[in-house]
Amino acid sequence: MNRLAGKTALITGAGSGIGREVAHKFGKEGAAVVCADIKGFEETAKEITDAGGKAIGVELDVSKLDSWKQAVDHTMKEFGALDALANIAGIPEAVDIVDLEEEAFDKMMNVNLKGVFFGMKTVLPHFVEKGAGKIVNIASLAAHVGLTNLPSYSASKGGVVSMSRQVAMDYAGRNIQINAVSPGIIETPILANISPEMRKQFTDATPANRLGRPDEIASMVLFLCTNEADFITGQAMIVDGGWGSQ
Ligand SMILES: NC(=O)c1ccc[n+]([C@@H]2O[C@H](COP(=O)([O-])OP(=O)(O)OC[C@H]3O[C@@H](n4cnc5c(N)ncnc54)[C@H](O)[C@@H]3O)[C@@H](O)[C@H]2O)c1
Repeated sequence: MNRLAGKTALITGAGSGIGREVAHKFGKEGAAVVCADIKGFEETAKEITDAGGKAIGVELDVSKLDSWKQAVDHTMKEFGALDALANIAGIPEAVDIVDLEEEAFDKMMNVNLKGVFFGMKTVLPHFVEKGAGKIVNIASLAAHVGLTNLPSYSASKGGVVSMSRQVAMDYAGRNIQINAVSPGIIETPILANISPEMRKQFTDATPANRLGRPDEIASMVLFLCTNEADFITGQAMIVDGGWGSQ
C-alpha cells in the first residue's frame, strides 16, 4: 500500500478494462487519479472515491491535441502537479489487410499511436519542469510477434514500442522514465465479440494455458510508475503468459 502516496497520475482508457484496473490499483496505492476516457470515466472515479481514494473523472479524446491540453490543465488546477501518465486507451481490429479501409487505418493510428504521441507531448514539459516523471504506454504482444488479421493494430502498437524507446532516450538524463507494456490476450470487454473457437485458440496458444487478467497488466504498469523502477527506461515489458517466448 501507498507505493504512490503523494503522486498524481493521469490514466487514459480508465473507463473500462485494463485502464479501469490501473486506475483502481493506483487509487489503492495512494495516488490522486485522473480517470480519463471518452466514456465511463466518471464511474471509475466514483468507485475510487467511494473506496476512500482520491480521483476525478475527465473527458479526454486521446486523438485530439486540444482535448489533451484541457485534461492536463484541469489536472494541474485540481491537484497542482502531475507525476505519471499511463496511456492505456486503445481500439482493436480484426481484418485482413485487403479488406482494411483507409478510414479505419487512419482511425487506428489516430487513437492508438497519435494518442500516445499527443499524451507524451503534452505532459513532458510538466515533467521536465518538475525534474521527474513516469510514462507507461500500452502496446501489445502484436508489436512483437505476428498474429492474424491485425495489420493496422500491429503497426500502431509497433509504433508505440519504438516511439516509447526513442523518447525514453531523449529524457533519460532528466530523471524521466518512459516504458511500454505489451499485454498478451487479456480478459476485458475488448474480447466481447470473439467466438468461443477464437477464445480456445488464444488459450491454447498461451503457455500459461489461460488468458490474462487486467490486474496482471495493472501490476506491471504500477511497478513502472513507482520509484522501484527508477533505473528502468526505454523497455517494452511483455506480459503474455509466455506466448511471445515460444
Ligand atoms: N485486452 C487485450 O487482450 C489486450 C491485449 C493487448 C493490448 N491491449 C491494449 O490495452 C489497452 C486497453 O484495452 P482493454 O482490453 O482494456 O479494452 P477496453 O475496450 O476495455 O478499454 C479501452 C478503453 O479505451 C477507451 N478509448 C477508446 N478510444 C478512445 C479515445 N479516442 N480517447 C480516449 N479513450 C478512448 C475506451 O472508451 C475504453 O474505455 C488498449 O490499448 C489495447 O489495445 C489489450
